[in-house]
Amino acid sequence: MKVATIGTGYVGLVTGACLADMGNEVICVDIVDHKVEMINQGRSPIYEEGMQEILKRNAQKNLKATTDLEMAIENSDISFICVGTPSDRDGGIDLRYIKSAARSIGKALASVDNHTVVVKSTVVPGTTENIIIPILEKNSGKHVGEFGVCMNPEFLKEGVAVDDFMNPDRIIIGQYDENSGNKLAELYKGFYCPILRTDLKTAEMIKYASNSFLATKVSFINEIGNICKRLGIDAYTVAEGMSLDYRISPNFLKAGLGWGGSCFPKDIKGLISYAKGIGYNPELLQTVLKVNRKQPEILLDIARKKLGSFDGKRVAVLGLAFKADTDDTRESQSFHVIRQLLNEKAEVVAYDPKAEENTKIEFPEIQYASTAEDALKEADIALILTEWEEFQNLNYEGMKNRIVIDGRDIVKNREGIEYEGLCW
Ligand code: UDX
Repeated sequence: MKVATIGTGYVGLVTGACLADMGNEVICVDIVDHKVEMINQGRSPIYEEGMQEILKRNAQKNLKATTDLEMAIENSDISFICVGTPSDRDGGIDLRYIKSAARSIGKALASVDNHTVVVKSTVVPGTTENIIIPILEKNSGKHVGEFGVCMNPEFLKEGVAVDDFMNPDRIIIGQYDENSGNKLAELYKGFYCPILRTDLKTAEMIKYASNSFLATKVSFINEIGNICKRLGIDAYTVAEGMSLDYRISPNFLKAGLGWGGSCFPKDIKGLISYAKGIGYNPELLQTVLKVNRKQPEILLDIARKKLGSFDGKRVAVLGLAFKADTDDTRESQSFHVIRQLLNEKAEVVAYDPKAEENTKIEFPEIQYASTAEDALKEADIALILTEWEEFQNLNYEGMKNRIVIDGRDIVKNREGIEYEGLCW
């Protein structure tokens, strides 16, 4: 099929590139010229495992990139809206980008027949029906039904998004009508996972409920970990015992500094704000958020007790990305730790194998080391905040005091140092 994807972030580009790799003709649209040029040269503007190879195989063949959205819609049967829906001040979602994309798509639909628009961006229940469809109708002069509409949430984890796209556990097709759903199901016929067909707002809610549940699972094991810490019990052994129950599974039971990223915080805050807006107070979800916010404070309490105070102390912060194997620092828990260290007048030396550049935007004033060992030199304490493999066996000899606080249960060699785990 002929496909257009609007937005070339990790959802849009992964969707477009993988569909091209499966034999579809794809046009990726973005407003940033530089990104468009890179994609057309077969170079990926984002870091995702496997993306470079896919672009090399398909760029300028059945995968093209352009800034011309109208041309993309006129030359495709189905288009995916994959633009960002960031949090706004009160935790709700900011729809400006998706509204703008819908306006442009609507204009193009005026001269296009048999086209189906698919919302892949994460939007609260009711958004596709009550906001996106009216915009498409207004700008195309057509009624929905003359064009198809679906809502098809993504479940892609950063760093492994290509694998997640090509091997989904399930595909959710929220459909305005049977025809729209059939069109999207046709595109996905190469997948062998369960395909669930629902109405539009149910598909929107499945996305929020899934991410909120995963965040809840992590905050749950962190709460258990905080209790275990007081009892000298290792939360990881508890998690292992729990995970043998097939209903619990071993996934998302790693206790530690908590969750960050561009999705969990945004989605759980979005659902809380939306629920309150319809008159329901989501107490559990608010507590999940509160538990997560507390983890950096608990780690700092452990460190502060060791040092007495951070004032004037040299603190090596190892790990800045919100998780390992990505350069993404959005909502990284490490940033909450650094901010508090600076408030308490610590001298911060930071290191991360991939996320230094992104961190410098937020914290230009701290020192950055090019290796973990350099960051440790003369440090009074080391805080391990992201589970990078290279942090398993570090050499702490250059430290002034060999105090190591591990926020991710990643440190394997604990000999000859004063080691303390966050929840173990
Ligand atoms: C998440 C969802 O997994 C994905 O399905 C959705 O489409 C987008 O949001 P992502 O944000 O890329 O993906 O990262 P993920 O691997 O889910 O981790 C999220 C956060 O939880 C990270 O900060 C990670 O460090 C933390 N985490 C995860 C834990 O602290 N413990 C765990 O056991 C798992």
